[in-house]
Amino acid sequence: MKKKNLLLGDEQKILEYEMLNRAAIQQLRLKMEILNDEFKTRYDHNPIHHLESRLKSRRSIANKLVKKGMEPTIENAMQFINDTAGVRVVCCYISDVYNVADMLCAQQDLELKEKKDYIESPSYNGYRSLHLDFRIPIYLSDKKMYATAEVQLRTVAMDFWASLEHELRYKSNVVIPKNIATEMLRCADDIALIDGKMQAIYKAIRELK
Ligand code: GTP
Ligand code: MG
Repeated sequence: MKKKNLLLGDEQKILEYEMLNRAAIQQLRLKMEILNDEFKTRYDHNPIHHLESRLKSRRSIANKLVKKGMEPTIENAMQFINDTAGVRVVCCYISDVYNVADMLCAQQDLELKEKKDYIESPSYNGYRSLHLDFRIPIYLSDKKMYATAEVQLRTVAMDFWASLEHELRYKSNVVIPKNIATEMLRCADDIALIDGKMQAIYKAIRELK
């Protein structure tokens, strides 16, 4: 059974927190769209295959805080939750993931708060992605405020594995036996090999041009 914690606090404060996080998502999506368009125009290549984004629900925020051993309050959410605003950048090739990441990190209004490179060091189960948590200024009518957002960058191939793994884990509600976990890890490693091959093919074709 999923836990049902409620996010506690002043309703107006929660609404404003959600508004700031929605703004952070919009800012990041726009930055990514501009980079993709520029790349298409200058290099005839779209590094971004597609973008996904979501605002974490109040219930998920509350559950995450309780899991971290905290009271599920809006004040704790504002201080300790980095991924209420989440943007997933699904790229074509591994080189695109790092190119887009470097371009974001070079933008002066984005402050990198945390980086987790699960491509260089995959998770125990084979999960691969690059996670960057940014602090972003949001210009409101009378003041500047900040929001934090988590950007997950991965290739289409990594996204294929992560989406199915998430679905299997989420829907099955059982403890995954060791042999199945090992099989999932093998699939992730096979996919990583193919990602490397596709990257090499892409490079070879570009050199022909
Ligand atoms: P803090 O950022 O420190 O709060 O930890 P976290 O729980 O956010 O961990 P992390 O940033 O490493 O990963 C969070 C998100 O990454 C999850 O919500 C998923 O979207 C994704 N993720 C991490 N591990 C896995 C995994 O094994 N499988 C899948 N499918 N997604 C994962
Ligand atoms: Mg995180």
